[in-house]
Amino acid sequence: MDVALVVDRLRAAGCVFAEDEAELLVAEAGPPGRLEELVRRRVAGEPLEHLVGWVAFDGLRIAVGPGVFVPRRRTELLVREAAALVRPGAVVVDLCCGSGAVGAALLARHPGIDLHAADVDPVAVRCARGNLPAVPVHEGDLFAALPAGLRGRVDVLAANLPYVPTLALALMPPEARDHEPRTALDGGDDGLAVARRVVGGAAEWLAPGGSLLFEAGEAQLPAAVAALTAAGLRPRVVNDDERGATVVVGGRGVETGRVDDDAPICSAKGCRALAGYALVWNNPKVHTPDREKVWLACAEHREQLSHHLASRSFLRRVDPLTPEG
Ligand SMILES: C[S@@+](CC[C@H](N)C(=O)[O-])C[C@H]1O[C@@H](n2cnc3c(N)ncnc32)[C@H](O)[C@@H]1O
Repeated sequence: MDVALVVDRLRAAGCVFAEDEAELLVAEAGPPGRLEELVRRRVAGEPLEHLVGWVAFDGLRIAVGPGVFVPRRRTELLVREAAALVRPGAVVVDLCCGSGAVGAALLARHPGIDLHAADVDPVAVRCARGNLPAVPVHEGDLFAALPAGLRGRVDVLAANLPYVPTLALALMPPEARDHEPRTALDGGDDGLAVARRVVGGAAEWLAPGGSLLFEAGEAQLPAAVAALTAAGLRPRVVNDDERGATVVVGGRGVETGRVDDDAPICSAKGCRALAGYALVWNNPKVHTPDREKVWLACAEHREQLSHHLASRSFLRRVDPLTPEG
């Protein structure tokens, strides 16, 4: 079968990047007869990455196979932000590691780190062990999988968790819905069920000055920020419109006795006061309607920042960070 015929079959099946995919399938097919099988499975909806056995991620080739979540390019933002926090010799954990892509990318950027990875799914753990041959990959439920000796010593806890709200699973492309494990996608009612458990346990495992990082959807930001604040972690949100990615960072303060070390700080220029509110906004000229942004505001600057956003019709709502505000 030549490339043109493969392109036709893929295009007829609705593959948007039929030419690129056809070239890859032809190049990776190996023995005669295998190409036909791969094209048939791709036409039936299997992810291309499961068929060829790898995915490009942060400049690396990560092995993936059936039953394992396919790392997304947007997660490179999580890698970039986590990498920026890594110091020489840092203890780094890739929690909910799936194929181990995040850990592998961090190790490639910082070969000197003390990296651990963990996942609850034995299929993912097997895959991660292949991608991270010199790294301990633990199997089990969140922190319960980690060696007790890491408690209070983790400098960077990078966790690309499941965060799709349960009802939204049905809206996902069939490739993900039918071929990636539900445990890798389902984040419960609002998508933050696993994130809340991780945030709740993070302070105990982070070293002083350490950080937790996880991906979230824009609509989940106020609740994610509130969860970090309630857990005593200093929240920060990083957006990357190009990648369509948002990363939430929670920093554990260094205990110096100052009250504000763990606290969320107001976004007003020059203000170092504690924030009590999340101002959720969106600029429809720049962002799609669901691309909401968050500013944090203290009691003094809440009015001024809200007015600034409201005067441009950007303000969507104001959420208190704690039930009392
Ligand atoms: C969205 S996937 C991300 C995988 C990988 N970090 C990546 O970015 O490609 C989420 C992963 O979390 C794992 N997971 C879900 N619930 C878990 C739990 N309670 N404990 C540990 N891992 C869990 C899933 O098995 C899956 O591999």
